[in-house]
Amino acid sequence: MVRDTIRFWRNGQAVEVSGFHPSTMLLDYLRLQERRVGTKEGCAEGDCGACTVALGRVRGGRVHYEPVNACILLLGQVDGAELVTVEDLAASGELHPVQSALVAHHGSQCGFCTPGIVMSLFTLYHEGERPLSRESANDALAGNLCRCTGYRPIVDATLQACGGPADDSFSARSEPTAQGLASLADGRDVFVGDETRFFAAPASEASLAELYGRHPDATLVAGCTDVGLWITKAMMEIEKIIWLGRVAGLDLVDDSPEALGIGATVSHAAIHPALARIDPDLGEVMRRFGSVQVRASGTVGGSIANGSPIGDLAPVFIALGAALELRLGEATRTLALEDFFIAYRRQDRLPGEFVRRVTVPKLKADEAFRAYKISKRFDEDISSVLGAFKFTLDGRRIAASRIAFGGMAGTPKRAAETERALAGVSLDEPGSWGDAMAAIARDYQPLDDHRASSAYRSTVARNLVFKALSETASGDTRATRIVGRREALQAAE
Ligand SMILES: Cc1cc2nc3c(=O)[nH]c(=O)nc-3n(C[C@H](O)[C@H](O)[C@H](O)COP(=O)(O)OP(=O)(O)OC[C@H]3O[C@@H](n4cnc5c(N)ncnc54)[C@H](O)[C@@H]3O)c2cc1C
Ligand code: FES
Ligand code: FES
Repeated sequence: MVRDTIRFWRNGQAVEVSGFHPSTMLLDYLRLQERRVGTKEGCAEGDCGACTVALGRVRGGRVHYEPVNACILLLGQVDGAELVTVEDLAASGELHPVQSALVAHHGSQCGFCTPGIVMSLFTLYHEGERPLSRESANDALAGNLCRCTGYRPIVDATLQACGGPADDSFSARSEPTAQGLASLADGRDVFVGDETRFFAAPASEASLAELYGRHPDATLVAGCTDVGLWITKAMMEIEKIIWLGRVAGLDLVDDSPEALGIGATVSHAAIHPALARIDPDLGEVMRRFGSVQVRASGTVGGSIANGSPIGDLAPVFIALGAALELRLGEATRTLALEDFFIAYRRQDRLPGEFVRRVTVPKLKADEAFRAYKISKRFDEDISSVLGAFKFTLDGRRIAASRIAFGGMAGTPKRAAETERALAGVSLDEPGSWGDAMAAIARDYQPLDDHRASSAYRSTVARNLVFKALSETASGDTRATRIVGRREALQAAE
């Protein structure tokens, strides 16, 4: 039986919405229909965090809260979740602890960013590590731009409010909320609209395959962190949307000793710890992938399927030797991830076919890995260049390598010439590394754009080859990094 409404949990009760336009954004629903205007619109593209709200979902028997950007989240994507906005936090006339701390520390001036900051802190209050470090507090705020207060008082308020156990009205009613959310999980397909215009959320892979086969012109949405901008910035009218977030099984991770099998709808936040366990550099790439809000919504499958030449996951997965599984109707096929990217924004994906999972091999004892994200800002910035290196070592020599770059071509691409030039090179003879560094110029002729010039990208890529080799040779990153030193990250584990 198909459901023709979406249902979510709000202030202790179920809310049912029907008949909405498929591309209605959650922020518009809140401000224009609920008339709750505490949630603000700043950039409308996921960058500033003024629109941050929290979504609660049950995992491991308890409600977990994540911050999301309501400006690039479809209304339909809240199906099955608890929706919490800034208006909901104060209880019995008392401010929430995160609100009180912001007042006490003078963490707000014009106040435009404040509701979004409050909501990010609300999720940190419930989910953050204990004890809470200043670095974690900074990471939690990377997706919230404040242009007038300055971050010192905001971070001080964060450390005060979010350092202890959660003790608010939400933790007090966690059990009834979990029961409420369980009552919404009916496992039915959702289809709001008609054959010409709809928001659909299939509950199984079979339903998805059938529906997408019937409507290959529909737009698949996973986290909506890309598609959202087509709607809010490119003003695209999207009439048919198939949201993947309810498809059972697509959100599973298969963590074996040899490989990570990552379902297409696994979010960046969910896969972050498992990737960091493969290599600390993967953890660093994920820490700097968008913001907490972007990582909570954005998915591994969306990041690959969008075919972006500057996406962060594709090059690191290609260097690790990942395979991609696609499904069309009843048939599945698997291909090497690098073969998926044919040309600029053109992927080997047939009409009606969807990304099912990506399998990422783990490192073997004789393999070394390095990945570097180069961007103009440290936090929440798209890469100018991302270089990923896997060396198979035979003692102190490089027996084989897999090297891939983002930002250097129209697709994420392997550096075949550089890989060839590295075969047999000794880690103890830096004088012999020059050929491999020079080979980068044969592998890539990057473009000039507003992020970086062609000359800059080429120089950076060449230098990253040297950096990867010298770090692998010494096993030390203290001389080559200011942040994200592997020794410190490994000691913290
Ligand atoms: C503020 C901000 C910061 C960002 N920072 C980064 C960053 O640091 N690094 C980075 O790499 N990216 C970044 N991005 C880009 C974006 O977050 C990623 O590309 C993201 O992972 C996309 O995933 P999604 O699930 O949101 O995709 P969606 O927007 O839902 O979909 C993206 C595309 O993939 C298609 N698609 C999705 N899932 C499937 C599937 N299973 N099968 C077939 N097609 C599918 C959709 O139809 C669409 O064409 C950022 C975006 C924003 C808004
Ligand atoms: S309005 Fe800026 S992130 Fe949503
Ligand atoms: S208080 Fe003005 S933008 Fe933060």
